Order: sequence, then structure tokens, then C-alpha cells
Amino acid sequence: MSKTKVLLLGAGFIADIHLESYKRFVADAEVVGIYSRREERAREVAKHWGIANYYTDWKEAILKSGADVVDICLPNFLHCATVCFAAENGLHVILEKPLCLSLDEADLMIETCKKHGRKLMYAEELCFAPKYERVRKTVEEGAVGKIFQLRQCEKHSGPHSDWFYNIEQSGGGALMDMGCHAFGWFRWILKRKAVKSVYATMRTLYHTGRTKAEDNSLAIAEFEDGTLGVAENSWAKQGGMDDRIEIYGTEGVVYADLFVGNSALTYSEKGYGYAMEKAGSTKGWSFTIFEEVFNQGYPHELAHFIDCVRNNKEPIVTGEDGRAVLEMMLAAYESARTGAKVMLPFHPKVKKPIDLWLGK
Ligand SMILES: NC(=O)c1ccc[n+]([C@@H]2O[C@H](COP(=O)([O-])OP(=O)(O)OC[C@H]3O[C@@H](n4cnc5c(N)ncnc54)[C@H](O)[C@@H]3O)[C@@H](O)[C@H]2O)c1
Repeated sequence: MSKTKVLLLGAGFIADIHLESYKRFVADAEVVGIYSRREERAREVAKHWGIANYYTDWKEAILKSGADVVDICLPNFLHCATVCFAAENGLHVILEKPLCLSLDEADLMIETCKKHGRKLMYAEELCFAPKYERVRKTVEEGAVGKIFQLRQCEKHSGPHSDWFYNIEQSGGGALMDMGCHAFGWFRWILKRKAVKSVYATMRTLYHTGRTKAEDNSLAIAEFEDGTLGVAENSWAKQGGMDDRIEIYGTEGVVYADLFVGNSALTYSEKGYGYAMEKAGSTKGWSFTIFEEVFNQGYPHELAHFIDCVRNNKEPIVTGEDGRAVLEMMLAAYESARTGAKVMLPFHPKVKKPIDLWLGK
């Protein structure tokens, strides 16, 4: 069987991680095209990764690349239009998180992919990260008894690109950017149990001059059986990327740290090149990471999606999961404004989640 042809939209941070994953770990896939707005960047990335064609117009890329699958690594506000156009033109879709900016967009994306018989594969890599998957399987064996509380933290000192800070393009700050991981992972561990309510509080404290978005948030999701999920997200936390989980059960507990546990503890007087994502200085003590892409589950995720396309399987994370996560984030923004728990289902008619917090 020939390789599955992939078109990548975007040539930034996550596109690079996907490219490394395909090249090193997904032998059944071939990236045949890349889109970037800037021709110089598109050419450079194509050359670096040995991609045959590059494009500076995403519609042209979808129409001309001959790909079976589009892998969308663009800012959040471009997700809906690119997904719909790709599905309408016969491509399956891999889409980076968060799904999109509103539930109306989510419904349109899901409906369009269904109508055209295309898969909408929602790239939540925490459902694939090897350490977290090891934990999930241990818990499924009954290691901690009945789960009554989960905690997931993802924190760093702020994103690398301007668009994240522009609420029209991102739809929200730290919660939108990283709370989607927590909510997606809670649902994955709890086997998509229904969510009863969401409570959240948030503020902007570190990037005040740069964005209207929240850069620190705490959200509590309450599931139908009373299980709690505590999501802590920050763009104000110094010292590099933090990603942790905790699972509390009636007969045990598990703690796992995605980055620190996959690194070498290093002390350097002079400093050195690269320690880990958003680490800042490497002088003094630092965590020197290895196999950063692999340990976060990106190769496993993309290999699974390519397998789904090749063998017509149902992906373990879909557009519907992305929609459910987005609904929880909308409830969190509403709660942060009102100070009250927000009951689900919750389908506000807003352009983007953060409008609920800002009272627009
Ligand atoms: N799974 C994860 O943990 C993870 C990590 C990082 C990013 N992401 C997601 O991936 C997507 C891309 O994020 P990123 O970190 O790669 O961002 P980035 O800024 O590094 O790259 C974005 C890409 O989109 C292009 N772009 C920006 N604005 C554009 C516009 N107006 N029109 C056309 N192209 C435009 C940029 O040129 C660049 O190629 C986002 O949805 C983000 O949430 C997911």
C-alpha cells in the first residue's frame, strides 16, 4: 500500500513538531506539501524536511497538493474555515487544539466533515503521551480504586507568537490555550462521562501590557457522578514548561510529571543551548529534556490518525470531543465573570469564549 499523503497547513512551532513526528516515527505517511503565508519560510521548511511542494495560499494548497489528509497547525481563528474547505474538497482532517472559537463553528465543522464522509481527528496529544497512557492503564486495572478527583496543570511563562495574545485570533488566553488539554484529558480518563458544571476564576497579571486575555486560571469541572477535575493553567509561571497530572481514588493515588520526569537534572555555571520548552536561562539548575516530541505523544497521536485514515478506523479523539471541551471552556469563561458555577449544557451565542469573561 502506498504512503498516505499529508498536507501541512502552518509552518510554526507545532508544525515543526508534527514534521519531526512524521519523519521519524510515522513510516506510512508522507508529507507532500506545506503552506506558510511567507514564501521564504515555506521554501525553507520544505527544503529542510524534504517536502516536494510549498504554497503561500492555503486554498490552493488544499486544491492542488494531492494529499489524502490535511494536518492543520494554524492559529485558532483559522480552524473552522480550513477544516470545512478541506473536507468539502475531499481531505480527511487532523486539527490541532483547541477545536475552534464557538460551538456554532464546531457544529459546522463536524457537520461538514460528516456530510463529505471525512474524518475530523482532534489532536489532543495528552491522550497519547506514553507516561500518561501508562497511568491511565494502571488506573483502569483498578490500581487506585474509584476515582473521585483529577488534577491537570499546564503552565509556562507565555506563548512564543503574537497571535496567542490577540483575543480575536486566539479566542482566549491561558485557559483557552491549555485548559483544553486538562478538560480533554479529564474526559479521556473518565471515559467521556457527562459534565454537570464548571466553576472558574482567572485574571491577567503578567502580560498586562500585551493582552486582554487571562494569563492565569483555575477551573473546576464537576462530572455527573460528583468526580472533580481541577485544571490549573498559566502563562505567568517561570522556569519552563510544566505539565502534570494527579489521580485520586478511594484506594490509591498517582502523580505524573511529563517534563521534569523525562529530563536530566543539570547544574551549569555557564549555561548551555537548550534545556526544554520555554525554559529561559540554562545557567544554574535546569531540567535537560530528551526526546521531547516523543514523550509528549505526538508520534503516537499522528501514527494513530494515519492508521485511522488508511484502515477506516474511528479515531479515539474526534471533533465531538473537541466540541465537548470547548463547551467546558465556554462555561469556565462565563463562570469567571459571574462568580457562579455554570451548569451544562451551555451554548452561548458568542463569537469567542473570552467574550463571556469580558462581558462583551
Ligand atoms: N498540542 C499542543 O500542545 C499545541 C502546542 C502548540 C500549539 N498548538 C496549536 O497549534 C496551532 C498553531 O500554533 P503554533 O504554536 O504552531 O503557532 P505558531 O505561531 O508557532 O505558528 C502558526 C503558523 O500559522 C501561521 N499564521 C499565523 N497567522 C496567520 C494568518 N493570519 N494567516 C495565515 N497563517 C497564519 C504562521 O505563519 C505559522 O506558520 C494553534 O491552534 C495552537 O493552539 C498546540
